[in-house]
Order: sequence, then structure tokens, then C-alpha cells
Amino acid sequence: MTLSPDAAFWELRFAPERFAYGTAPNVFLAAHAARVAPGQRWFVPGDGEGRNGVFLATLGAAVDTRDLSPSGVAKSRALAAAHGVTVNATEGDLRGWSAPAQYDGIASVFLHFLPEDRPAVHRAFVEALKPGGVLIVESYHPEHLKRQAEGSRGGPQRADMLYTPELLAADFAGLTAVSMHVVDETLHEGALHEGRSWLTRAVFQKP
Ligand SMILES: C[S@@+](CC[C@H](N)C(=O)[O-])C[C@H]1O[C@@H](n2cnc3c(N)ncnc32)[C@H](O)[C@@H]1O
Repeated sequence: MTLSPDAAFWELRFAPERFAYGTAPNVFLAAHAARVAPGQRWFVPGDGEGRNGVFLATLGAAVDTRDLSPSGVAKSRALAAAHGVTVNATEGDLRGWSAPAQYDGIASVFLHFLPEDRPAVHRAFVEALKPGGVLIVESYHPEHLKRQAEGSRGGPQRADMLYTPELLAADFAGLTAVSMHVVDETLHEGALHEGRSWLTRAVFQKP
């Protein structure tokens, strides 16, 4: 099967045996583990090689994921099996994806879209949350371009794909902002997310 150029881009990163972003969960998501209860239903868009979906499944959540990369999806399933859990990992594009209000939580971690694609995808996340459901977002901030120039690894190399709190607040205007912070922290999340990084971290809740 021929992959789209976007899928091929990610496939190149995930086809090797090593986990590009490691197997440990994203630090910000892990810090919010208390928000996850057994039996809840979570969606992890763009879960790559599965580290965050698997983490949520180990907390007892029923987890659906969707990612462009076939190797990423295969590694997600294998990582889940290695942890003794299952994740409903599916291959596919989030552009055009939609779901009814069925999730208790959505974790969007380092998932960056072009400005022409982002609002519709983010709208679909809002629609897919149940009332009371939470959305946890970690992304690179535009200031991070400076860190990339200094040698930090991670994130798109164009400002219009990086997110400020204001941008997220506008996209997720239908949700209540629980917290929003810009931080300058050192990441060690696999070989491809490494070094001092400007990040936007946010938690939203559906009324
Ligand atoms: C930087 S990686 C982050 C992976 C994962 N969230 C993590 O933190 O380990 C971005 C991920 O988003 C996925 N992605 C990007 N655009 C996508 C799209 N339009 N539809 C589905 N997945 C997408 C890529 O395949 C890749 O796995």
C-alpha cells in the first residue's frame, strides 16, 4: 500500500526497532494520572509508537488511538502486549476524523497541525468528549524555534505549527480552561524529543 507523504514522513521515524520518543509516558500526561479512573474511555490522537495510550491503559482506561504510521500502530500494539494491556490502536488520518461525545478524556501530545487543518481537528476533539470530559494538551511553543537553533531536538520547524495558550484557548473555546502554562524545560523523551524546550501545557474540561 502506498502511504501519503505525511504518513511516509512518520513511518520513516517509526519503522526502526528503537522507540523514537521512548516507551515512558509524556511527563505532563503522567503528572495528570490522577484524572484517569479505571473503566474510563480515552482517546489518544497521534499516539505514535503508543507510549501514552499504553500508559493510560495501565491505569485501567479503555483506550482508542489513531495514527498515520503503520509501524507506529504495530509498535503500539506490541508495547501494550508487553505491559499486559490492550489498546485499540488504529491507523488513519485525524483530518476528517470525528466521533460522537464518547470519551472521558483525550490526550493530545506533541500533535502539531498546519493552520489550515488544525481548527477542524481540534473541533472534532471537543465534539468527541463527553460532558465533564478532560482534554490534556502538550505542544511546542513558537519560542521553541530558538531552542531548535541551539540544538534541541523535537517539534515542527515552522512557527505556524507551534501552539500558544491563546491559540489553544481559541480552538477549544467550547471547553473550560482548567490550566494553561508556557514552560521552558529540559525534555528527555526519546532521542527525538531531547533538550531544553519551550512548551505549552494545557488542561481543558467540557462543561
Ligand atoms: C511528534 S509525534 C508524537 C507521537 C506521540 N504523541 C508521542 O508523544 O510519543 C507526532 C505524531 O502525530 C501523528 N500525526 C501527525 N499528523 C497526523 C494526522 N493527520 N493524523 C494522524 N496522526 C497524525 C504522527 O504519525 C506522529 O505519530
